Amino acid sequence: MAAIRVSGGARLAGSVRVTGAKNSVLKLMAAALLARGCTVLHEVPDIHDVEIMAELLRRLGCSVERDLAARTLAITVPEHLEHRADYDLVRRMRASICVLGPLVTRVGAADVALPGGDAIGSRGLDMHIDGLTRMGATVASEHGYLVAQAPRLHGAHVDLDFPSVGATENILMAAVLADGTTTIENAAREPEIVDLAEMLRAMGAQVDGAGTPTITVVGVEGLQPVEHTTVPDRIVAGTWAIAAAMTQGDVTVHNARPEHLELALDRLSLAGAAIDATADGLRVRMDRRPRAIDIVTLPYPGIATDFQPQFIALNAVADGAAMVTENLFEARFRFVQELARLGADVRTDGHHALVRGRARLSGAPVEATDIRAGAGLVLAGLCADGVTTVHGAEHIDRGYAGFVEDLQALGADAERLA
Ligand code: EPU
Repeated sequence: MAAIRVSGGARLAGSVRVTGAKNSVLKLMAAALLARGCTVLHEVPDIHDVEIMAELLRRLGCSVERDLAARTLAITVPEHLEHRADYDLVRRMRASICVLGPLVTRVGAADVALPGGDAIGSRGLDMHIDGLTRMGATVASEHGYLVAQAPRLHGAHVDLDFPSVGATENILMAAVLADGTTTIENAAREPEIVDLAEMLRAMGAQVDGAGTPTITVVGVEGLQPVEHTTVPDRIVAGTWAIAAAMTQGDVTVHNARPEHLELALDRLSLAGAAIDATADGLRVRMDRRPRAIDIVTLPYPGIATDFQPQFIALNAVADGAAMVTENLFEARFRFVQELARLGADVRTDGHHALVRGRARLSGAPVEATDIRAGAGLVLAGLCADGVTTVHGAEHIDRGYAGFVEDLQALGADAERLA
């Protein structure tokens, strides 16, 4: 198990550059399955989840070549694809489920292992299944696999109970090659959905309304491979912005889109940070201890649940008390027990966490249980006396490329332990 060791006390200052979004690139890689030939993706982050998705695509029959220095990935998709996503890969990365829609619509069949619950919650798939069923697929759960079949999908009206990111993406990718028109109501509006729709449109798909609650897709006969640049990772950019505010630092984030972070940045200014848009990103400066700020996580354009641990960490060292409400993943507060090892004062009750800020935390060994919990614990460690060792750093590697190198570049005393 890998670990990240940080010594508290440094004020983060300098600049970092963000690459493409994990939660977009994995879906763009799945979307490549929709067209025979070579799709090239740019701004591909050097994270572990990209490797897992590449392995999954290889097992489906694709060849995948990565140029780490150039941050590109070339996926060559054959005419005939396999259609099975095995448990050994799906259990390592839940996002594997996003091959379901592309495989059903392109191959007419998909056997995808059920991912099960994970550290942040139960994470159902009912909306994915309902959407594909409405489009004419039969979907059954057999021996731990979702087994879907549809010689030909047809368009349908799909009304989501909740704007699920994954369900919107699977239904959207299935609809682009279906017969007729599909309408997705109450669709997720995340920038990553817009990114996926842009790539699909460049491939020749007819998609309207991505970024709004209603997406309309008119199915086409076939798609062509394209080159596409992944949208910058707003969660990584926001993590650096929060880190700057917590450490009373001055950090410029390159290749970031402040417009994708509006509410989160608004909260940081309420905490006392000065935030400026720059030519290619943003700059966050803080010259005092942050004020405690209430946070409510919601689907986009609300504050992302993927910021919840980082905002709890900020409140743990802020002046005052704040309420953090989690509306997406019921188990995401689990990391609070680890934060308590650093001396944080956090009480949870159902969806709510009451955080009373302390002037200083106290370094200790802690364990990351998921990507964002790991980031939150490292940020807290930057504001703790002495040494904090965050075990389970492989979770952080799943979502943050070169995290330790970036911390060091910003002046933190940080290192990776094997
Ligand atoms: N849900 C259902 N049934 C469904 C689908 C979702 O009940 O059929 C529930 C989930 O259990 C959850 C809520 O709906 O309570 C939202 O889930 P959603 O489908 O929107 O999330 P996801 O697609 O599984 C993606 C990101 C997550 C991010 C969420 C919310 C990827 C690979 N993952 O997950 O990212 O937190 O959207 O924005 O895109 C992370 O990066 O650390 C991460 C967990």
